[in-house]
Amino acid sequence: MSPLRVIQWGTGNVGQHALRGIIRRPDLELVGVHAHSPAKIGRDAAELCGLSEPTGVVATDDIDALLALDADCVSYTVQGESRIDDTMDELCMILAAGKNIVSTALVFLINPAFLDDATRGRLAAACEKGGTTLLTSGIDPGWSGDVVPLLVAQMCERVDSIRVSELMNYGEYADPAFTGEVFGFGLPLDHPAALFEPGAVTFGWGGIVQLLADALGWTLDEIREEHERLPAPETFHTAMGRVEQGTTAAVRFDVTGIVGGRPAITAAHVNRLRDDIGPDWPILAGGRSGYRVEVTGHPSFTLELEPRLDDGGSHAVAGLIGSAMRILNAIPAVCAAPPGLVTPLDLPFFTVGGA
Ligand SMILES: NC(=O)c1ccc[n+]([C@@H]2O[C@H](COP(=O)([O-])OP(=O)(O)OC[C@H]3O[C@@H](n4cnc5c(N)ncnc54)[C@H](OP(=O)(O)O)[C@@H]3O)[C@@H](O)[C@H]2O)c1
Repeated sequence: MSPLRVIQWGTGNVGQHALRGIIRRPDLELVGVHAHSPAKIGRDAAELCGLSEPTGVVATDDIDALLALDADCVSYTVQGESRIDDTMDELCMILAAGKNIVSTALVFLINPAFLDDATRGRLAAACEKGGTTLLTSGIDPGWSGDVVPLLVAQMCERVDSIRVSELMNYGEYADPAFTGEVFGFGLPLDHPAALFEPGAVTFGWGGIVQLLADALGWTLDEIREEHERLPAPETFHTAMGRVEQGTTAAVRFDVTGIVGGRPAITAAHVNRLRDDIGPDWPILAGGRSGYRVEVTGHPSFTLELEPRLDDGGSHAVAGLIGSAMRILNAIPAVCAAPPGLVTPLDLPFFTVGGA
């Protein structure tokens, strides 16, 4: 089978790993790269993701030229949440132009069933026009909260509740401009960080709760949210920048679906800039960073997943690579799917390809 032709759109934290993955894989062929910053435009794709052998594909910000390419799929990893309207416009334009999309951007798109009618309708119309399919995913929200808890639940006679948690130290996550700002790291505890606007965590993570409820055949009464921040005990430095004593150094939130009057499905985050902050908050066994999936019922199961790089790289980078590969590995299934908005549960089982 000839390789699927892919455009990589965005070469940031996630995109550089997606780009490297596309170049290296025999079942995918890189045909275009979109970059935004002038410093990247005109440079070979290999250079933008740390590979030495030029690909002959250079980065461009010429959207018309990219849409005119003969491509099966766009791997879209542009910063979405800080430019929601523009991102929606781009996604619709690409889909309507006949190119399937696998995307990490706009995490609230992970579950189309959780979207408002206008957003879902607009994207669905673009898919219909182009005969194309959109999958939005990543590691969390995404992979840790869709197939993983459901695979665990395959071993239960009865499930009473599910809790999916990201328990990650963000101290090595070099994303101060976006994640740092949105979570309020290094800012006063009462800073109006975007994540703590009423409804914001539900907007981002409620899709997981709805997806699991639908998969289990449960009806949600409502979704509740709660969050908390903790201060730095003293001033210290992280990849997020300098954190002054007393400013935000740890953040936790729960987004909980209520079923039959009781908490039944929770998507949670605990993100610290140092492992010793918030000693009473959950952390993986051995004080490590990663994901915990707790399925309570008969019997109950707890699963812990640690993203790691065997070359000594940080778990944060392992998580970014995981997000990129979650969408790249879905490309063949997405290209073969009927037009529309899909989640991984709508696709045949997919896993690493071309290896
Ligand atoms: N669900 C998950 O697990 C998960 C995990 C990680 C990320 N995400 C999501 O994936 C997306 C990408 O994340 P990231 O950390 O890779 O983002 P990022 O590095 O902050 O940004 C990605 C790229 O967006 C481009 N960009 C920034 N402003 C732009 C603009 N005004 N117009 C066009 N392009 C622009 C930049 O291109 P240039 O470099 O060319 O300037 C940048 O490289 C985000 O929406 C994020 O929320 C999801």
